[in-house]
Parts: sequence; C-alpha cells; structure tokens
Amino acid sequence: MKLWGGRFEKQTSGLVDDFHSSITFDQRLAHLDITGSIAHATMLGEQGVISKEDADAMVEGLKSIRDDVDAGKIQFALDAEDIHMNVEKILTERIGEAGKRLHTGRSRNDQVALDSRMYIKQIAKEAIQFQRELCEALIVIAKRHCESIMPGYTHMQRAQPVTLGHHMMAYFQMFSRDMQRMKEVYQHADVCPLGSGALAGTTHPLNRYRTQELLGFSSITLNSLDAVSDRDYVCDYIYAASVCMMHLSRFCEEMIIWSTHEFKFVEMDDSFATGSSIMPQKKNPDVAELIRGKTGRVYGDLMGLLTTMKGLPLTYNKDMQEDKECLFDARDTLIKSLMVFTAMLSTCTFRADNMARSAEGGFTNATDAADYLVKKGMTFRDAHAVIGRLVLYCVKDNKGLLDLSLEELQSFSELFEEDIFVACSMRACVTLRDVPGGPAPNRVRETIEAGEKFLESFAL
Ligand code: ARG
Repeated sequence: MKLWGGRFEKQTSGLVDDFHSSITFDQRLAHLDITGSIAHATMLGEQGVISKEDADAMVEGLKSIRDDVDAGKIQFALDAEDIHMNVEKILTERIGEAGKRLHTGRSRNDQVALDSRMYIKQIAKEAIQFQRELCEALIVIAKRHCESIMPGYTHMQRAQPVTLGHHMMAYFQMFSRDMQRMKEVYQHADVCPLGSGALAGTTHPLNRYRTQELLGFSSITLNSLDAVSDRDYVCDYIYAASVCMMHLSRFCEEMIIWSTHEFKFVEMDDSFATGSSIMPQKKNPDVAELIRGKTGRVYGDLMGLLTTMKGLPLTYNKDMQEDKECLFDARDTLIKSLMVFTAMLSTCTFRADNMARSAEGGFTNATDAADYLVKKGMTFRDAHAVIGRLVLYCVKDNKGLLDLSLEELQSFSELFEEDIFVACSMRACVTLRDVPGGPAPNRVRETIEAGEKFLESFAL
C-alpha cells in the first residue's frame, strides 16, 4: 500500500505510477534528503515530540541508509513515488514502528523545498570553483600577452588595436561577475523552509531554529505559504548558469572564428579538436561549437521552469516537480562546459604574430591619426574628415596610413610632421590608451593585479 493509501479504495494505475513518480531523477537528492531527515528527527527528539529512543533509532537508521546510498547499494522503488517516501519506506523496513514517526510535523512540501535549497547551495559552490579555475587560466594567458597586439573589433570589423591580454581580461570580468552571481544564488537558497509543513506550518512544537542550525542555514523562511510554493532559488541558479553559458558561448564563437584559416589567431590543441570522416585535412573546433550549442539547452531549462511557474496559484502544485530535471540538466551542462572549456583554452596556442599583422592592416590606427591632428590644434570633427579622406585614398592604393610618405600625408593636412610615424604605430596606439580599464600594458597589468586580489579574497 502507498504511504498515503488510507483514503483510497483502489491501487494506483501503473500508468500513473510511471507518469508521476520522480524517483528516477530525484534520487540524486538522496544524500541531502537523508541529512535533512536526520536533523528533523534529532530536533523532534530534543523537543520531546518523539521519544529519545525513537529519535536515536531514526538517526542510526537514516545514517545506515545514507551509507548504503553513497555506496550505491540501494534500489529505489517506482511505486514509492519520490525520494522522500522511498527513504521513509526503507527506514521503516529497517527500524520498524519508529520509522513511521519520522514525518511528524513535516510534509513533503517543506521537505522537497529543503532538499533543493541544500542542493543549490552545493552546486552554486561547485560552479564557483570551476569559474574560479577558468578565471585563473585567463590570468595566466593575460600575463603572457600584455604586449601582444591584436585588432579590437566592433561589428566584426577591425576597429582599434588592443592586446590579447586586454581581450582575455575582458572575459575575466565576465566570469568573475558569474562567480558573484553564483554567490548571490547561494545566499538566496540559504534559508531553511523546514517547519512550514504542507502549507500552514504545524501544531507540533517544532524548533525551526534548531533544524536551521543543524543544517547550517543562515536563516529560516518567514511565511509557510511562500516557503512551500517558492522556486525562485531554482530559477536563480538556472539564470546564473544561463548567463555563464552565454559568456562561454561568446568566447567559443570567437575561438571558432579565430581558428579559421582566414584568421589563424589561435590553434586548438589536437587533443581538443576533431577530424572529419570524409575530409582528411579537417581539424574542427567541435568542443567550442558544442558549448555554444548547449547554451541554448540551458536557456531552455530556464524558460521551461519560468513557464511552469507562471500560472501556479499558492501553494504547492505538482507542476513544481518539473523543476528538478531542468535544474539537474542546467547544472550538468554548466559544469561540463566549464571544465572542458578551461582545458581547451589552457592548451590552445595563440598566434600573436598573426594577430599583430592583422592589427597593422584595416586602419586600426585611424582614430589615433585623427587624435594626432587634434593634438596639433584641429577640431576632432575636421580631423575625422581629413583621416576619412586619407583612408579612402589608401584603400584605392591598397596601402596603410603609415605606408604613405610625409609629403603625401601633408597634401591632406599641413599639420602632419615626421612624428606621425611614431605616434600612429601600433605600439603607440596601444600604449597611449592609458586610461584606467584601457588596453595600455601597464593598465592591463593593473587589472590583472586587481583580478588576482579578487580571486584571493573571494570567499563563500
Ligand atoms: N516529488 C515531489 C516534488 O518533487 C515532492 C513533493 C510532493 N508533494 C506532494 N504533495 N505531492 O515536487
């Protein structure tokens, strides 16, 4: 018979058992579920809601089940529906009558909220660890390439020269924000819902602060209705995962473009690229493409859950069981993507020579040439027009600005002097962009230092 079978005259249809049971996936929460039950049982005993002997028996029984779960020795039953009832059933099989007191003053509704909050605290920490490793890898590359000039782009058109170090530190900013976002996810999840019951608390004299303390939560939920119907913290995790995947995906897109024959800015290590079954010459950036592709899947997880939640009246509705598979999928996808991306990035070879050559072309020093005239007294708008005409002239001749002679330059403006050739060299263009947050090598070194300090002091 079902744990809730009292008011039923018939068995559940096999179709329903198969359809509504969540044990196939929520068994992932088994360890945490048992930890939550151990705290609940301990508190029930301390409060005198159950006898000390029963509490001890429960705690012992639960620990033995938890060991067996960890050792992979437990077979869960589909007809026991979910992880919560499976554990209670196994406990009662092991310790008898006392097991039937475990659910005193508790509902699966506050229990599942507890389990998923504990799980999210765990996986937010885990994500931060992998994001940290990626940030560290970025710093290693940035340090090596503070002076490596590359073209910066807008609209995918060469725009102004920057350095590879600066470019890497841009991603550092994104992933360090992701770490902070995950920390906020952790903080939102760090509230204990136990004691909210099915929806309206309980008449038993529970000590909610005791279970909060036993389970290491920072505070308790303040409204029993909200506590069992809230899944914001699940949305928060999947949103934070989505943003991090978006950052990974943009990075992957660049790696894919940079590894083309047309760019040749980067070469993937053989161990992180794949070949073609028909074209012998191919070396494809599949890993980067797959991360880009999987980003859509994590967005799907987020949209799925938001859509599931949008029409739900208070409080718990079974629809909410649908939160788990998208959460698990988002977590698995995020962690695997971070792991493989960091490994791919750390093993690839950046072609600083090709980057520098590319920066030389494409008039990336045109703004600097205009700035040069401004420093000689021209208004910026006039200087913009002069350099525009100069670029047009060069395009027709297939030349760069500094390929022209001083005489040719002076036919566009008499303000040009010999020093233009130094002032508009790639090196000068980068070094002179000496504002905080700019690409000048000493500024990038400053950001690297700040980044290292951030990583050092980031704690959860
Ligand atoms: N398996 C359920 C879920 O994940 C647990 C809560 C069930 N509560 C209930 N009243 N049916 O949402």
